[in-house]
Amino acid sequence: MEVLNDKYYIDTWGCQMNEEDSEKISGLLKGIGYTKTTVREEADIIIFNTCCVRENAEQKVYGHLGSLKRLKKSNPNLIIIVCGCMTQQKGMPKKIIDKFPYVDIIVGSFNSYKLPEYIDRVKKDGKSIIEIWDKEEGIVEGLPIDRKSDMKAFVTIMYGCNNFCSYCIVPYVRGRERSRKPEDIINEIKSLVSKGYKEITLLGQNVNSYGVGLETKVTFGDLLRKVNTIEGLERIRFMTSHPKDVSDDLIKAMAECEKVCEHGHFALQSGSTRILDKMNRKYTREDYITLAKKLRKAIPDVAISTDIIIGFPGETEEDFLETLSIVKEVEFDSAFTFIYSKREGTPAAKFEEQVPDEVKHDRFNRLVEAVNEIVSRKNKEYDGKVVEVLVEGTSKNDETRLTGRTKNNRLVNFTGNPDSIGKIVNVKITKAQSFSLNGEMI
Ligand code: SAH
Ligand code: SF4
Ligand code: F3S
Repeated sequence: MEVLNDKYYIDTWGCQMNEEDSEKISGLLKGIGYTKTTVREEADIIIFNTCCVRENAEQKVYGHLGSLKRLKKSNPNLIIIVCGCMTQQKGMPKKIIDKFPYVDIIVGSFNSYKLPEYIDRVKKDGKSIIEIWDKEEGIVEGLPIDRKSDMKAFVTIMYGCNNFCSYCIVPYVRGRERSRKPEDIINEIKSLVSKGYKEITLLGQNVNSYGVGLETKVTFGDLLRKVNTIEGLERIRFMTSHPKDVSDDLIKAMAECEKVCEHGHFALQSGSTRILDKMNRKYTREDYITLAKKLRKAIPDVAISTDIIIGFPGETEEDFLETLSIVKEVEFDSAFTFIYSKREGTPAAKFEEQVPDEVKHDRFNRLVEAVNEIVSRKNKEYDGKVVEVLVEGTSKNDETRLTGRTKNNRLVNFTGNPDSIGKIVNVKITKAQSFSLNGEMI
């Protein structure tokens, strides 16, 4: 099937895994002749790749779907597609189609690779398609991927999650853990490197459980060591890893492998052991502090980033103060802070003692203030230092400046030669700001 001059538009919400899924969907659509547009009004296909981790992620999608009514009226041939995690929730496809009857295709996370077939069907008979699977028929390898960047790439190493943290909907919408074969991962990375990619991020909801279910046992540490030997690759990152599963061997692998960036994202969620227990996180406040100490000892200059939820059901002021104090003790290099959002179908949605909104907002503000104070103080320590930066392009706010990240994931904006885009260069920090560093290439 060859389509000419037809355009698709895609919006992506949610985590890096969704970003990578969108790159795969883009690859599929380009494969059947579509070209990408960033202007909704000129698209023949509009795709919303959705997230449902918090309620506000869903609200955004509803808002955007509502605004498509007008476009569908002016262009009845427009094909509207909803995919991603939101569609995997029980009753959601019906809810979407009832509210927005002009949606043409609702496809789940496990069968989005079938989109070209569904698009073809809709074009032929004009009937809308709702097709959601509860699991996939096995990991589909070899799909075309249209990547956003030509120097950094996400490489999913495992799908799904078995942890069932009591607040979280991800295991219900992404299924159980499945690992890709190491040889498929290595071959993908080698092919990326041959195209000039410098940095890869290994993705999974909990990369530490990589290898479970594979015929030959390979741990995540083993995988890091293998990837580290790939010639031409400069940087390896990974996201995300559950603190309960960080083995000493993983820390050792991080320290040993020179390409593995000095950065780990370990979601804390709460500093109170009592709340961590209710969250089903399977580690204590002390375990987390020990982990952070081990990391800082084994890997000089390591950055530790995290996710924190405030307002989990039953969280008292005392529990919250424990979160504040662990933030100060661990001195996170960055932190994503979230207000607890009740997700139907998760155990925590039924917990009594839901925290009132005004208490949540007050705690959220106090937490953000504490985090910002630490992040900004730690950034200021970079004043005058020389750092290695992978140059990603020109700076968002100032086209005459370049931008990139250090190995430990700090954002640097600097003056330098535009020919260095795609390369790793040394930058002297001239002014450290609260959330980024300013400098000049040397
Ligand atoms: N697998 C990753 C997390 C993926 S979800 C990990 O465990 O590290 C990203 C973050 O969203 C979580 O770490 C958590 O902080 C937040 N989150 C998940 N469910 C939430 C909810 N119901 N309300 C608020 N934040 C939530
Ligand atoms: Fe959600 Fe917990 Fe799985 Fe992360 S580890 S995706 S927070 S259930
Ligand atoms: Fe959202 Fe799905 Fe990721 S719910 S956070 S897009 S796994």
